[in-house]
Amino acid sequence: MNPDYSIFVVGAGAMAEAFIRGITVRGAVDPKQIYVINRSGRARLEELQRLYGVVPTDALSDAAECDLVVMSVKPADMAAVLQQLRPFLHGQVVVSFAAGLTRAWLHEQVEGRAHVIRTMPNIPVAVMSGVTAVTCGPDLDAQEREHVLFLLRQLGEVVELSEDMMDAVTAFSGSGPGFVCYVLEAMENAAVQLGFTPETARLLLLQTVVGTARTLDEWGLSPAELRKRVTSKGGTTHAGIQAMQDANLDGIIAQALRAAAQRSAEMGREYRGEDSEAVAPDSAARSRFR
Ligand SMILES: NC(=O)c1ccc[n+]([C@@H]2O[C@H](COP(=O)([O-])OP(=O)(O)OC[C@H]3O[C@@H](n4cnc5c(N)ncnc54)[C@H](OP(=O)(O)O)[C@@H]3O)[C@@H](O)[C@H]2O)c1
Repeated sequence: MNPDYSIFVVGAGAMAEAFIRGITVRGAVDPKQIYVINRSGRARLEELQRLYGVVPTDALSDAAECDLVVMSVKPADMAAVLQQLRPFLHGQVVVSFAAGLTRAWLHEQVEGRAHVIRTMPNIPVAVMSGVTAVTCGPDLDAQEREHVLFLLRQLGEVVELSEDMMDAVTAFSGSGPGFVCYVLEAMENAAVQLGFTPETARLLLLQTVVGTARTLDEWGLSPAELRKRVTSKGGTTHAGIQAMQDANLDGIIAQALRAAAQRSAEMGREYRGEDSEAVAPDSAARSRFR
């Protein structure tokens, strides 16, 4: 990557920090080439400067000098911030982390003055073990695209998807950590009911989960294959899975993902200021997740 490549990060919250941390710790970008701005003041920006060596700024106009602009503000703030930023855009790449805001909508907000990449990271990017879904669009130069994908790969895996899958991926890998934690929470509570102390239950839980994920990865197995390997007819795992099947757990999980994807589509319409009642019945996204 060109050592002069410069990045303007709008927002200094959790996701902005995860991005900055990921791209600086292994030296992918010189932190002195990363400018960060927020709304409410210096304290947080100075903290990021202390931790990662980035450059605090209070001038959106600095974006004019940067190659990449990363929008890490809440979806509800996006229209106002892009309106202020627009005069300083002249063909840079703008990456959005915001849920629900389509490339077309973002492109319209910047009045075509930038190439827009829509992404959906998940929370494990904070420990560089995340997955970021990305949709680029045809207007993007191959080298610019490669630069952005390289940066996002510092945070974990990157999956390129067509835009019509972004609500689905928001539900799956975006909300996925929350779903996994809900199941883990239930397992932990059940373990305590079986007689373990909370501390022992937590240790057994984390090691079981991390170990299972690592085994799947290292052995190259699907979850179904590993499950079959550890399930003998009439054994303990078989008895537990039978109880899950009797309760229709797979149907419940499918229902949860559909509900999340549908909510993502609805929230997108709300953030974009569209009338969800008028749009919903014909929306491809809505019918997809029914
Ligand atoms: N956190 C996650 O797990 C996650 C996962 C996937 C996607 N995302 C997306 O990532 C984006 C950021 O999320 P987050 O969790 O990092 O949010 P956050 O912690 O609330 O941070 C938002 C940041 O935006 C700044 N901001 C708001 N208006 C601004 C303005 N006019 N000019 C400059 N800065 C402004 C805020 O500054 P002040 O604090 O000074 O107001 C704050 O630093 C969101 O779109 C979210 O949907 C987050």
